[in-house]
Amino acid sequence: MALILKLVVLLMSAGAFAQLCPKQCDCDVDNGLNRASCEGQNIVSVQVGVPDAVQVYSLSRNAISELDNYCFKEAGYSSIEVLNLSYNVIFWIGLHAFAGLDKLIHLDLSNNRLRYIALDLFFESPQLHILDLSGNVFESLKNEPFINHTKLQVLNLNNCRIKSLPDRMFSRLPNLKKLDLSENYLVSLNTEVLRPLRKLERIELRNDYWNCDPSFMAVETWITSHGINYVKQCVKKTPKMFEKMISAVPVERVDVDVSDIWNITIIKNETLPVLKPSKELTWFQKIDQEFSASQAFVIGLELGLALGIVCTYVWLRALCGCRRVNCARPLTRRQQRRAQRMADSDMRTNLLWSSAVNPDLETPPSYRRRLSLPDGSAPYPTYGIPGPRGTIIQADAIRLPDRGETPPPPYHECRINI
Ligand SMILES: *[C@@H]1O[C@H](CO)[C@@H](O)[C@H](O)[C@H]1NC(C)=O
Ligand SMILES: *[C@@H]1O[C@H](CO)[C@@H](O)[C@H](O)[C@H]1NC(C)=O
Ligand SMILES: *[C@@H]1O[C@H](CO)[C@@H](O)[C@H](O)[C@H]1NC(C)=O
Ligand SMILES: *[C@@H]1O[C@H](CO)[C@@H](O)[C@H](O)[C@H]1NC(C)=O
Repeated sequence: MALILKLVVLLMSAGAFAQLCPKQCDCDVDNGLNRASCEGQNIVSVQVGVPDAVQVYSLSRNAISELDNYCFKEAGYSSIEVLNLSYNVIFWIGLHAFAGLDKLIHLDLSNNRLRYIALDLFFESPQLHILDLSGNVFESLKNEPFINHTKLQVLNLNNCRIKSLPDRMFSRLPNLKKLDLSENYLVSLNTEVLRPLRKLERIELRNDYWNCDPSFMAVETWITSHGINYVKQCVKKTPKMFEKMISAVPVERVDVDVSDIWNITIIKNETLPVLKPSKELTWFQKIDQEFSASQAFVIGLELGLALGIVCTYVWLRALCGCRRVNCARPLTRRQQRRAQRMADSDMRTNLLWSSAVNPDLETPPSYRRRLSLPDGSAPYPTYGIPGPRGTIIQADAIRLPDRGETPPPPYHECRINI
């Protein structure tokens, strides 16, 4: 109420009729300046009936597409210091559009459709200090001065799809102090572009496309050696958790810079804050993070060796134990036959030998089969070993290659069983 009264008093003292703040706008006082905010109202013209005493005028987020010559001057606006035309669809600006804005200090033309700016566009607003042209489309720039203005100190060309900077681009901005060229498609930079900016204090070149070769690093060195505040791009990048976190913040309808809403102190420092990953890591990921590849290799090697030693020990133990208790492993048929043959031949040799050395020695009962010939001699040649008389040579102890182990039973016995 006091505000409106103040406005009314102000306007009446100026000898004008009562000037109303149009319903599309909010009029208030900001830092002692008359402010009219006409945002998001689908306004198509800068003339919406806001009293001409306005000093901070925002027409942000409307549908303005063109700025005709003398459009502000015709409406009588001569006190505007801050003009906000961001988030419109402006693609054309008349060379004399800003005529009459003698006091204009801060102009926001960000997020429009501008492809081109006339060199002397701001000739008639000599106090202009801050110009925001971010979010426009300056894709193809000619090799000529971009803007001719002696007072301009801050220029924002963030996110303007700029692919290269012509050498003469900033040659008519002798007092520029801050320049933002971030988020463009630049891959290289020539120091010739920056040379005319003798008063430059700060430059922003954030983007992911820089070709970090020696020539670009030389440019970086050149920038820092000229005392310009600059965050080097060609350094080992930390994981981009910070950016991801910001992009994950839910936004309503439009993109809003969170630094305007939250109390964030932007750290302009080489060492970015290392944020904890928002997601809980799984056990394996933790291990993965904590161990380097070489550590993992050494540990793997040690584990393998230990396992090998244990296994060898167990195997050896099993083998020795087996010998001691003479446990028989299941043999293959071939092995069985071989073992049988060897046992047989051993026994045969033993028998022959013992009967030769000690004729009275009894053969084991299980081998005692009286199959010898009636005269007590062996029924086959005895290979030179004399069979002593009276001693029955165990016939089965000597096996002939073509002789069956056990003779088949007589035929009639079989028949009886049937
Ligand atoms: C212009 O308005 C937008 C919001 O619509 C705001 O983000 C921006 O900071 C304003 N610019 C100035 C210079 O106040
Ligand atoms: C640049 O602007 C100055 C005045 O600020 C003017 O004298 C000069 O002629 C302009 N140069 C060009 C090339 O337009
Ligand atoms: C922002 O936070 C800092 C401390 O982090 C504090 O000193 C400062 O007063 C805060 N500003 C506002 C506007 O809350
Ligand atoms: C960067 O941060 C470190 C600690 O985080 C601080 O000691 C140093 O002064 C900072 N440098 C600048 C230029 O702010």
